[in-house]
Amino acid sequence: MCGIVGYLGSRQAYDILIQGLHRLEYRGYDSAGAALVNAEGSLNVYKAKGKVSNLEQSAAGKDTTGTLGIAHTRWATHGEPNDVNAHPQISQTHSIALVHNGTIENYNVLKKALIQHGYTFESETDTEVLVQLIEYIKLTGGCSLLDAIIEALHQVEGAYAIAVVEENDPDTMIVARKSSPLVIGVGDDETFIASDATPIVGFTDRVVYLRDNEIAVIKRNEPLRIISLENNKPSKIDIQTLKLSVAQLEKGGYDTFMLKEIFEQPATLRDCIRGRIVDDCNRIVLSGVEIHRDRFLNARRIVLVACGTSWHAALIGKRLIQEMCRIPVEVEYASEFRYGNPVLDKQDIVISISQSGETADTLAAIQLAREKGAFVYGICNVVGASIPRNTDSGTYIHVGPEIGVASTKAFTGQVTVLTLLALSIGQLRGTVVPETVHEIASALMEMPKTIEKVLKLDGEIQKLSRTFTYAHNFLYLGRGYNYPTALEGALKLKEISYIHAEGYPAAEMKHGPIALIDHEMPSVIIAPSDSLYDKIINNVQQVKSRGGSVIAIVSKGNRAMAEMADYTLEIPDVPECLTPIVASIPLQLLAYYIAINKGKNVDQPRNLAKSVTVE
Ligand code: G6P
Repeated sequence: MCGIVGYLGSRQAYDILIQGLHRLEYRGYDSAGAALVNAEGSLNVYKAKGKVSNLEQSAAGKDTTGTLGIAHTRWATHGEPNDVNAHPQISQTHSIALVHNGTIENYNVLKKALIQHGYTFESETDTEVLVQLIEYIKLTGGCSLLDAIIEALHQVEGAYAIAVVEENDPDTMIVARKSSPLVIGVGDDETFIASDATPIVGFTDRVVYLRDNEIAVIKRNEPLRIISLENNKPSKIDIQTLKLSVAQLEKGGYDTFMLKEIFEQPATLRDCIRGRIVDDCNRIVLSGVEIHRDRFLNARRIVLVACGTSWHAALIGKRLIQEMCRIPVEVEYASEFRYGNPVLDKQDIVISISQSGETADTLAAIQLAREKGAFVYGICNVVGASIPRNTDSGTYIHVGPEIGVASTKAFTGQVTVLTLLALSIGQLRGTVVPETVHEIASALMEMPKTIEKVLKLDGEIQKLSRTFTYAHNFLYLGRGYNYPTALEGALKLKEISYIHAEGYPAAEMKHGPIALIDHEMPSVIIAPSDSLYDKIINNVQQVKSRGGSVIAIVSKGNRAMAEMADYTLEIPDVPECLTPIVASIPLQLLAYYIAINKGKNVDQPRNLAKSVTVE
């Protein structure tokens, strides 16, 4: 969470910073700020509570000149969202400005020591402590800014990606990272830094992903220098080519990113399976599995770790892998796993699932798993993110940048990759019959067209959404493969419409949630014609007989349900294990239109952030 961006070059930095902040706003939008060093060496700082547009308004007409600058968009952790707590944070003599993504865990201890040295603090942030500490070290030690930052970083505990500039030095920007992401864009005579590559796209395609415990010195007219914070020696600079385009970052004619991303799913799933289903749908090839065949052949247990929507995908992955590979599978919230002293050994495989590849708990979970000797496999969307760089092997879902905070196309991409993974391990171990591989692989190849058909429900769902816009509670019920779909449907509604919604295994409903059902509480029941269809019919009747209204997601041509439910949405028939992909789409649209009817900002729902880089 929090996004940082910086620029040093020959252009005016301000516009580049503002554009970068807009692209990073998905990481948090509690406040925004920028610091610019102009040609005379003056340091000008502007900050505003709320969105980047507020910052633009408050800086309008002021001196925003300068070809060096840093900026920040905040997701509040320490201190409420307001102007004072916004970044950049400034040192006591107003000479050093710093932006920070992460958390300084020992900030209280450091703060007390600095207070004893006569420092006063304006904000409640952990970040102010870091910038004051840097200044204190610099002034008392008489050292350079670089040496002061290095020393300060040795004293702090926690996670950070920082960018620092100093008054009277319009030629230097210093950045460093530990556990929070930072990318450096290397242009011709100009350098960009950002939390991810999106602010850099369109300026240069040459990027360096700073590694943990590295500090980079960016100086005008000098080559980039990266130093290891562990041994103070120069680090190797590994320039990579960025494959993102500006078009991928824009709304493409849709009102919102979320709607664009929902409608992109036929294309994104095509990209996701490309090259992975071969031999006329008779074989799955995932290079991450092929290279490590022995690990998968000898695996005794698989543990899936993830957070949020990715955790819902993991629940579907568990069923897929157990069914097709006959290996015991566990699913853990990354945040629970990492503090649960897990029992792991060399024959265990830990699979992390993360859209961003930066979620702090998931990253820590896989680091722990590796320390304990497990083989770690990553399923990720953002290419080059921290999680794929800290795994032994893995598969990208390749669905392109997901900007809307509520995950949609990444979820269907994750489930698709988990299906491919289960099939490929199953093939290897001989636990899945060729007919099953062929049937599921063929249906996956057809999936883009299948989803195009599901998306035709758009108008019907938009109409239906009006009936339910003012409900206060929703229940989402599903069984088997679609219990996680129910959880995901409920999460989508909560995230963007702020309506309380609960996802439940349909049969468990009678052990509690049934008490809540009345004519004001709608239930969304995911009931495709699968092996558990007959069972879920009973659950529909239980809801109906208590006066609840039912929206049922059913397989095409199911007339029986139409007689029981108040509303039915028909989805095409697909193999049972693929029903979550197809059934999740009407749920995405339902949540979307309810939130839009309520006038909510679906791309940037309150209090949420796309990439959660704090615990
Ligand atoms: C945040 C996002 C969710 C996402 C979760 C896990 O809460 O708002 O959409 O599912 O983080 O993120 P990851 O990037 O690890 O999948």
